[in-house]
Amino acid sequence: MQTTKTQPSRNRAGAPTHAELFEPIRIGNCKIKNRIAMAPMNTVFSMDNQGYPNEQIMAYYAARAKGGTGLIITECVLGTRLASRFPYTSNLHLFNGTHLPGLEELVETIHAFDAKVFIQLSIGFGRQGHSHDHEAPYAPSAGIPYQTLPEMLPAKMRKLVEKSGFLMNPKIPTMIMAQMPREMTREEIKSEIAEFGHSCVLAVMAGFDGIELHAPHGYLEHQFLSPRTNKRTDEYGGSLENRMRFVIEIYDKVREMIGTAIPVGIRLSGDEHMPDGIHHEEMKEVVRVLGERGIDYVHLSSGSYEATKYFFPEKDGTMLDEAAGFKSVLPAHVPVMTPSVHNPAMAARAIREGKTDLISLGRQLLIDPGWANKVQAGEKFRKCTRCCECLSRTVLGMPVRCLHNRDLGREKYMPEYWRPTRAKGRLVMPQFAPLP
Ligand SMILES: Cc1cc2nc3c(=O)[nH]c(=O)nc-3n(C[C@H](O)[C@H](O)[C@H](O)COP(=O)(O)O)c2cc1C
Repeated sequence: MQTTKTQPSRNRAGAPTHAELFEPIRIGNCKIKNRIAMAPMNTVFSMDNQGYPNEQIMAYYAARAKGGTGLIITECVLGTRLASRFPYTSNLHLFNGTHLPGLEELVETIHAFDAKVFIQLSIGFGRQGHSHDHEAPYAPSAGIPYQTLPEMLPAKMRKLVEKSGFLMNPKIPTMIMAQMPREMTREEIKSEIAEFGHSCVLAVMAGFDGIELHAPHGYLEHQFLSPRTNKRTDEYGGSLENRMRFVIEIYDKVREMIGTAIPVGIRLSGDEHMPDGIHHEEMKEVVRVLGERGIDYVHLSSGSYEATKYFFPEKDGTMLDEAAGFKSVLPAHVPVMTPSVHNPAMAARAIREGKTDLISLGRQLLIDPGWANKVQAGEKFRKCTRCCECLSRTVLGMPVRCLHNRDLGREKYMPEYWRPTRAKGRLVMPQFAPLP
């Protein structure tokens, strides 16, 4: 209905340009029309709505779907009550039935604009979280403070942060510094995993086409994986086998609860890029084990908020080697998704050379939601300058904006992105089969 078919541009030999980007792909039982995903990005649009979707969030995702993106991955949605008490800003929520109607409408809207939609679901931010009442955030181990050093920020973001003088102020709760964490008990670990499994059932009921477990960037699952932040002496700490137990138990619980109803993937940092953190070879082993257990895809990222410059790279293609590393340990049918390749020629080549199967675009889709259609049609698109104004705002807990795209954050006023008045092809009952 709202979509128009884009005519592919052709090179001198008459072949479509960047054709690899526009080949369909299967992730588990979900068919995606091209190799272009929208990377999850916390928008802080639901701040005034306490984690429930609103008109702005729907129109914002509709714009990216209408722009030809094959797969929308939502911002990181908080999947347990405990997680929702310790974000550093505000995110969408999904852990009880009241969250269902809004998310179901979000799914319907994205489907109406001809894209698939996966939910990125988080079990918590751990030591990178903040409570508003200064209650200590929960983490694998106590007493390991968290702080981003200026030299670990991307250069342009560092300039912004230093200029504002605000973001580095320890009195202001931002993503730069968090409160001293406390250790999670084993009982808490088990009950969080159980609640998270239930939230995944809600995700199926809301109609999402897939679930992405949020485990990169130094968040809770990552903290368990990393010898830097996990000093436990029980079965969740010590050896790599023990450090990966939390992630594996989460994955197993999700499968136990939803079976193969929709694909389940995971986002992981390919390397923590901290001297005492978890490195690529150990991360590959985590990925290999998940591949063996049946994970449907792996979405790569890099670094953590302590090593921010690695996951907000200053140039294209910095993660492609780590992507190839993950691919080397996964079964051939399990795709890998790689962010931060904004250049279409480089993206198409990376797919052709087998380094990655899909690309995911973050900041590039903030500045130009129509990247996919424009690339396919051979039209010019607005290039992201990687200035990080977008991120610097959300780090401060403010809704995302883009210096070069003044429409970002105002999509709700643009009728071309309004959600449909009548859902197309929706089932009255969600499809659960086959459940275990
Ligand atoms: C404003 C903003 C919010 C983000 N929030 C998330 C998030 O919720 N979950 C996540 O896994 N990554 C998040 N990211 C990281 C992006 O998914 C992506 O990996 C990163 O921006 C690099 O890709 P790019 O160069 O295309 O921007 C965020 C990025 C930005 C700019």
